[in-house]
Amino acid sequence: MTTRVLTGITPSGTPHLGNYVGAIRPAIAASRTQGIESFFFLADLHSLIKAQDPVRTQRSTLEIAASWLACGLDPDKVWFYRQSDIPETTELTWYLTVVAGKGILNRAHAYKAAVDKNREEGVDDDAGISAGLFMYPVLMAADILIFNANKVPVGRDQIQHIEMARDFAQRFNHIYGKDHFALPEAAIDEQVATLAGLDGRKMSKSYNNTIPLFAPREELRKLVFSILTDSRAPGEPKDTEGSALFQMYQAFATPEQSAAFARAFADGIGWGEAKQQLFERIDAELSPLRERYNALMAEPERIEALLRRRGQELRERFAIPLLKELRYAVGLRDLAAAGDTPRATAAAKAALPQFKQYREADGRFHFKLLDGEGRLLIQSEGFDSPRDAGQLVAALKQAEHGDALQSESFKLEAEVEQVLAALAALRE
Ligand code: TRP
Repeated sequence: MTTRVLTGITPSGTPHLGNYVGAIRPAIAASRTQGIESFFFLADLHSLIKAQDPVRTQRSTLEIAASWLACGLDPDKVWFYRQSDIPETTELTWYLTVVAGKGILNRAHAYKAAVDKNREEGVDDDAGISAGLFMYPVLMAADILIFNANKVPVGRDQIQHIEMARDFAQRFNHIYGKDHFALPEAAIDEQVATLAGLDGRKMSKSYNNTIPLFAPREELRKLVFSILTDSRAPGEPKDTEGSALFQMYQAFATPEQSAAFARAFADGIGWGEAKQQLFERIDAELSPLRERYNALMAEPERIEALLRRRGQELRERFAIPLLKELRYAVGLRDLAAAGDTPRATAAAKAALPQFKQYREADGRFHFKLLDGEGRLLIQSEGFDSPRDAGQLVAALKQAEHGDALQSESFKLEAEVEQVLAALAALRE
């Protein structure tokens, strides 16, 4: 079976070189791998959480779509679509909402960060926080589960959301007694390239140090020439290490070209000359992309038609049949049809997490917590008596917060969220 890889892109602003090197270019390269089915979508519903300016929303969505296509995403080989073109996603969001633990959502980073900020400022915990921000992980889970994606490439900050998607999927499967959803996994690229910006810090919109990906040639030149360098004169050897300029060159060059550039540094190339070479290198890679981008932006109706076509195909192939199944599963059924499939079948029961207590060869008493698929979540140390082990198990069954999971007597073998979810499932 092919692996389904799903990538969500929140349209906000225009992409910069850092996005290109760190996200767009590697994702498109990965989409060309054999044996995977790629899904790329514009998370326009998510973008509404942050930006509520309709003109900007439309513009960003167009720009991001044009950017990915210009960078080589092949819309006949991958599924490239717009989140809002799949209305079944929002319907699924509701079915997940009713099984999602509110306590789990309370722990989502983005929401927690907003609450922490409010506390610091001495205002109400939830001041200015929309329910949309709070529900963000549920919508994201629906994006993933609606196409039964297996792998979701995300940054570290998003791993938690994938764990939540697994949790909601497991709960739904458990309650409604069938494997409606595949359980997704986060795919983390350990060596994502981050690019330094004009001032040497990480290139990021929030630092205002970016180079827009499709800046016209002249603007690109100006920006490259404004990269911060030290005051060493031409003829003085320059360090490649810690040089934003050198690092940027590397991101656009072959190893041989980079080696030659490093030699030029050692030989004392002047900064002006180095910047000229960097500019030419970047422009050589980007100018064909820029041309395609401008052509695409000039004909938005082509992008619109493409997105609609792919969205419609996805609905017919996957989303509509799945929602039909789910509606039936939850009991939104033809009232005249005979009822069947009672909730919590034997199969569903077997899928419950469980504590196991046992004795090792050394005579000590241990316990472990396994999830419904038999994966280890908690492993204890050995105890002198079964009672000691049992008491801790009893206490754990009550645990509702991460704090309760901190102990010298056992080790977590999974994310805190997962363990808490398993404990909650046991209590139900
Ligand atoms: N939350 C992601 C981000 O901010 C975007 C996103 C929305 C997403 N839905 C998704 C990513 C589903 C992966 C899967 O970057």
